[in-house]
Amino acid sequence: MAVETIQPHGGVLINRIAQGEQRDGLLELAKGLFQLKINSWTISDLDLIGVGAFSPLTGFLAEQDYTSVVNNMRLADGTVWSIPITLPVEAEVADTLKLGEQVALVGEHDGVVYGILDVQSIYKVDQNNEAIKVFKTDDNEHPGVQKLLSRPNTNIGGPIQVLNRPKPEKFEEFYFDPSETRRLFVENGWKSVVGFQTRNPVHRAHEYIQKSAMEIVDALFLNPLVGETKSDDISADVRMRSYLVLLENYYPKDRAFLGVFPAAMRYAGPREAIFHAMVRKNYGCTHFIVGRDHAGVGDYYGTYEAQEIFKNFTQDELGITPLFFEHSFFCTKCGNMASSKTCPHDKADHLHLSGTKVRALLRDGQCPPPEFTRPEVAKVLIEGMKEPEYQV
Ligand code: ADX
Repeated sequence: MAVETIQPHGGVLINRIAQGEQRDGLLELAKGLFQLKINSWTISDLDLIGVGAFSPLTGFLAEQDYTSVVNNMRLADGTVWSIPITLPVEAEVADTLKLGEQVALVGEHDGVVYGILDVQSIYKVDQNNEAIKVFKTDDNEHPGVQKLLSRPNTNIGGPIQVLNRPKPEKFEEFYFDPSETRRLFVENGWKSVVGFQTRNPVHRAHEYIQKSAMEIVDALFLNPLVGETKSDDISADVRMRSYLVLLENYYPKDRAFLGVFPAAMRYAGPREAIFHAMVRKNYGCTHFIVGRDHAGVGDYYGTYEAQEIFKNFTQDELGITPLFFEHSFFCTKCGNMASSKTCPHDKADHLHLSGTKVRALLRDGQCPPPEFTRPEVAKVLIEGMKEPEYQV
């Protein structure tokens, strides 16, 4: 029996994946179009638009939507949208393009025609303004700002069609489109599902907030971001292995579901928290976890800024319920995981390990305390750290 699931953002789950004869025709058409080279970041954005993860977007932002998103965290029609999803092109390329023209979007390394874009808008942007509005800083040390400033400052926007999908190198069985997760959640009989974004291994604090949320909903959608991250983040491959051992040993199989989010990490803190929530709504989640410094990096954002930003929108506009969690830790006096909401003891009684310290331990082949990381997870991470990419 079909059960109503949560509405996608904007009301309709976008599907821009061309199929069958339509796809054949567009592939033929693409041969005669300008071949715009796109990198892996853009391929990922294109695909996520195509499958509806970024609903209601049907393409890369045109100027009116871009300006509105940057200034007001809304599309031009008022729909909540906090991160500009854009397609930058070199000025010389933009000069040769005409409005109304179509361009083929071709992988820069593999020559695959990933899609076609109808050029509805060609516009120059003020990247410093975008950086300050979106990232709250124009400091080039910020990885999101650095990325933004490294891109050309002319964008083209308009609707897209996806003609080929990027192929996952590994863990293909954990790639689900929003239409699939929506169906699977219904098939499992889950009326409420909490989404969890992460770009890290799941440590005990993550587990604690996930399981606290699981007490009040039907299921957990563990949805790690596996697209581009900064070079010192732990690779998606190693993280996936760590999630699998954790789920195997500590989570109920019928109430925890692992599926990846193949997007690039923006490190935009508060604004990215809104974006992450909207996307998880599209995957069919009814709730979304926002803990301490969600999607943050360095000291650019306040500990709870990513929670406070939700106050700018009504529950109706968001359409998904954010679940906010305080900074969580293991308290040696309580003898369990806690937060300042539940623990009366001093900071000195709380186990604290910085990310840098944890990485140093793992690199030395030492397990962090089990109160910080499950030993099974630590073992996978220690093995992972021996891989060449971590030997620099
Ligand atoms: S993120 O960049 O993807 O947000 P991370 O994977 O570390 O980073 O965090 C995943 C989620 O867990 C985020 O919502 C974050 O706020 C939350 N979180 C991480 N560590 C803690 C903690 N110690 N206490 C409470 N929430 C946390």
